[in-house]
Amino acid sequence: VLGSMFVILLLLVVDGFKAFEMEITPANRIVAQMGDAVVLTCNATGCASPSFSWRIQTDNPLGGTATHHGTYSTLTMSAVNINNAHDYLCTVCCKDEKKEKSVKIEVYSFPSDPVIEISASLAAGEQTIVTCKIPHVYPSDRLEVFLKKGDHVLHEQNFYEDHSTNAETKTVTYSFNLTTEDIGKEISCVAKLPIADMNFEPKERVTSQKLNANFGPKNTVIIASPSNSAMEGHSINLTCVTDSNPPPQIVWRRQVADKIVQCASENNVLTIPEAHFTDSGIYICEVTNLLTNKTEKATNTVISVIPAAVVKEGETVTMKCSSSGNPTPVISWKKKTATGESEKIFEDATLTIENIKSQDLGLYECEARNQFGGEERAVKLLVQAPPKNTTLKIFPSNAVKQGERVTISCTSTGVPTVQITLRKKTDGAITTLETQDGKYTLESVLLKDAGIYECVSSNELGEESQHLVLDVKDQMMLVIIAFSCVTAIAVPVVAILIYVSRQAKINGSYSLVKALRLKV
Ligand SMILES: *[C@@H]1O[C@H](CO)[C@@H](O)[C@H](O)[C@H]1NC(C)=O
Ligand SMILES: *[C@@H]1O[C@H](CO)[C@@H](O)[C@H](O)[C@H]1NC(C)=O
Ligand SMILES: *[C@@H]1O[C@H](CO)[C@@H](O)[C@H](O)[C@H]1NC(C)=O
Ligand SMILES: *[C@@H]1O[C@H](CO)[C@@H](O)[C@H](O)[C@H]1NC(C)=O
Ligand SMILES: *[C@@H]1O[C@H](CO)[C@@H](O)[C@H](O)[C@H]1NC(C)=O
Repeated sequence: VLGSMFVILLLLVVDGFKAFEMEITPANRIVAQMGDAVVLTCNATGCASPSFSWRIQTDNPLGGTATHHGTYSTLTMSAVNINNAHDYLCTVCCKDEKKEKSVKIEVYSFPSDPVIEISASLAAGEQTIVTCKIPHVYPSDRLEVFLKKGDHVLHEQNFYEDHSTNAETKTVTYSFNLTTEDIGKEISCVAKLPIADMNFEPKERVTSQKLNANFGPKNTVIIASPSNSAMEGHSINLTCVTDSNPPPQIVWRRQVADKIVQCASENNVLTIPEAHFTDSGIYICEVTNLLTNKTEKATNTVISVIPAAVVKEGETVTMKCSSSGNPTPVISWKKKTATGESEKIFEDATLTIENIKSQDLGLYECEARNQFGGEERAVKLLVQAPPKNTTLKIFPSNAVKQGERVTISCTSTGVPTVQITLRKKTDGAITTLETQDGKYTLESVLLKDAGIYECVSSNELGEESQHLVLDVKDQMMLVIIAFSCVTAIAVPVVAILIYVSRQAKINGSYSLVKALRLKV
């Protein structure tokens, strides 16, 4: 019993004589971002009715509201600012005892990610300005900024010399010449506030943006496929090509006499299903980039050929070059010469060639030009001609000796390309010979190869033929004839005559007269 009473007494003594203490929470140090709310609590223990007071060491305004609640007091700062970056002291008086503690408030500001701005004109070869803004940053003398393209650091900047006394927006600018490869790449702005002894997150903020600014439309042109010559009955595609980001809105129009009508297509390809002459003329492609608010027009210069770019000799061809522009372009025609140069042949929109000849084939170029530039279109005119100048030749000659190498050659011209057929006629029988490039070769000519040779050259427009007679002499007989001339003996002569007459019978083309004439 005595023991337990002692314990109770001891507890009472400890409780009753609890020493006067105080503390501030949070203790020692607070890292707060500007704008944050901070509440300091000063708590007294071991004192029934303490009195509290708050102050800043430098005797600056308190910058907060103090509220006393019996054994503790709070100091509330609803939004800390640069003026709150001080040591705060709480003084507690209990009877005649006074205690004081302090807490340090440190402020920073790094509230949001950087903002990237890329200059509007983004085209390869042009200077591009990248601006990175780091909003409302403090302390700026600790700020480091990196501008990166992909993983590559383009530019690095620090603000160590900047002693701004309040949060400010810092700007980093860098300009570089854009290359085509750059479009689509990421531009990043990395802002760092690497204050190791201040406990806040994040200390690094990154913003990325694709190099994908709006530009254009520009360099707008119309490309015709298969070509700019609208041939009767063929479809033609007109494609409007332009440099624009984002892709533009496209409107096709067609100029008919003085009127301009809108075409159905709303994409970049306009198909004229069956190009009739009435459809040829001027097409206008109008492109609008809805983000840059720019509009550009392209018109095509079109050559139309009547009846077609492929004509027959003797026909009349009309080539019309239509073009638009302001001022109205002057149209001239040129023809490509054999040397590859272009020779001006005519000045007006419509070029007519009557009674066309094969020499008129070639590349005709129409040029539409005004003071702002020119546009050229070409059309290949093909003049069809029936086979002509068919020439049949035998090498080395039309009369050869047995065993010789003989080449029979046939040439001919015509458009489209001629087909050459070589035939041999013997005693009413016709044999077609296989030729190579119009040539037929007999490595060792035989007597039976003698006869009539015919060459037929043909194309879609007609045919032409030539023929020749090939004589083949017996080698053996010639030797005998030569011998008989020298010896002048009757017997061999008779023998020769018999032989020759027999040969003459065998081979229709082999004449006795000719054989004998040789002897003389
Ligand atoms: C003050 O301190 C006492 C003892 O440590 C604790 O029980 C009490 O909750 C504190 N009061 C405040 C307002 O922090
Ligand atoms: C960038 O382009 C401008 C004009 O286009 C030129 O004057 C400048 O020298 C170029 N700079 C570099 C670094 O190529
Ligand atoms: C025109 O374009 C369409 C589709 O875009 C294609 O099917 C057609 O073959 C093209 N015609 C010509 C003549 O290029
Ligand atoms: C483009 O034009 C429209 C109306 O004309 C206007 O409302 C818009 O702000 C313009 N946009 C730009 C980027 O200029
Ligand atoms: C006919 O062909 C020959 C041989 O190929 C040539 O020498 C001649 O010039 C041609 N004549 C004509 C009118 O084309």
